[in-house]
Amino acid sequence: MKILKTTSDLKRLLQKEQNGSIGFVPTMGALHEGHASLLRVARNQTSTVVLSILVNPTQFGDQSDLDNYPQTLAEDLELAEREGVDFVFAPKAADLYGGTPSANKIDWGSITSDFEAAFRPGHFDGVVAVVDRLFKAVAPDIAFFGEKDLQQVAVVRKLTADNHPQVKIVSCDVIRDEKGLALSSRNIRLSDRGKVDALELSKALKRIKDNVNKKEQIALETSNLNANLNVELEYLAGVNEVSYSKKDSPNTWTHVIIAAEVEGVRLIDNIRL
Ligand code: PAJ
Repeated sequence: MKILKTTSDLKRLLQKEQNGSIGFVPTMGALHEGHASLLRVARNQTSTVVLSILVNPTQFGDQSDLDNYPQTLAEDLELAEREGVDFVFAPKAADLYGGTPSANKIDWGSITSDFEAAFRPGHFDGVVAVVDRLFKAVAPDIAFFGEKDLQQVAVVRKLTADNHPQVKIVSCDVIRDEKGLALSSRNIRLSDRGKVDALELSKALKRIKDNVNKKEQIALETSNLNANLNVELEYLAGVNEVSYSKKDSPNTWTHVIIAAEVEGVRLIDNIRL
C-alpha cells in the first residue's frame, strides 16, 4: 500500500496503473465499518483501489465542527491495509485546491436547497468542490459512495453526469451496529446514554417503512420525537432519492430520511421503502 501526500505524486504513480480499472473511495478519515464496506465493494469490482482521506474544510459551515472532526490517521492506515487498498491519497487541502480552499455556490434545485442543504448551508457546495477536484486527481473508473449520505449521492450523481460522465457511481448500503444505529465517525462523541437515544431515529424509520400509511406514521413519529427532550429533530420526511422534491407524492417516495441532534451530535439516517 502506497501513501501519497500530494496531487502530483498521486497522478505520477496512478499513470503507471493504466491497465485495469481504478476504484475510488473518498472519505474524511476516522474510518469505521461503513467505510470498510465501501472498500470491500471497490476491491471486488476494480483492480486498483484508491482511498482518499481529507477533512474537507469547505463542507463545514461551523468552524468548531471542523475543529472537532475526529482524526485517526494511524488507525485509518491499518484499516486500509487490512482491506487491501493500493493507494491512500491524503493531501493537504491547499494542495488539492491549488491554494486557499473555496467552493462555488451550487444551485441544482431541491437536492442542493432542501433537507441537508437547508440545515447545512454551503455544505454541498463544499462537497461538490472537493469531489470534483478529487475526481480530476484520481480519474477513477468507478467511485463508491455510501447511502448513509443519501442526498450526497444525488448531488454526486449530478456532478458526475455534468463534469465526469466517464465515471460510474456505485452507491452502497447503510452499515449499522448490532442495535441498528447507522455507523458514523461522529458516533464516538455520543455517551452510552446518547447511543440509546440515537436509536430512536432508526426505530422510527423502521416503523414508518412497516406501516402501509407512511404519511400518517411520519406525522406520529414526528410528534413523538418532538416530545422527546433528548432528541432534537431537524427533519423526518419521505423523499424520492433522485428529485428530493417536497412536492413528490408518497407513491414516488423511495426513502424516508431523518436528521436530528443527540447530545449536540448531528445524526442522519434513512431507510429504503
Ligand atoms: P465521510 O463522512 O468520511 O464518508 C465517506 C463515505 O463513507 C461516504 O460515501 C459515506 O456515505 C460513507 N459512509 C459513512 N458512513 C457509512 C455507513 N454507516 N454505511 C455506509 N456508508 C457509509 O462523505 C464524506 O466523508 C465526504 O462528504 C466526502 C464525500 C469524502 C467529501 O469530502
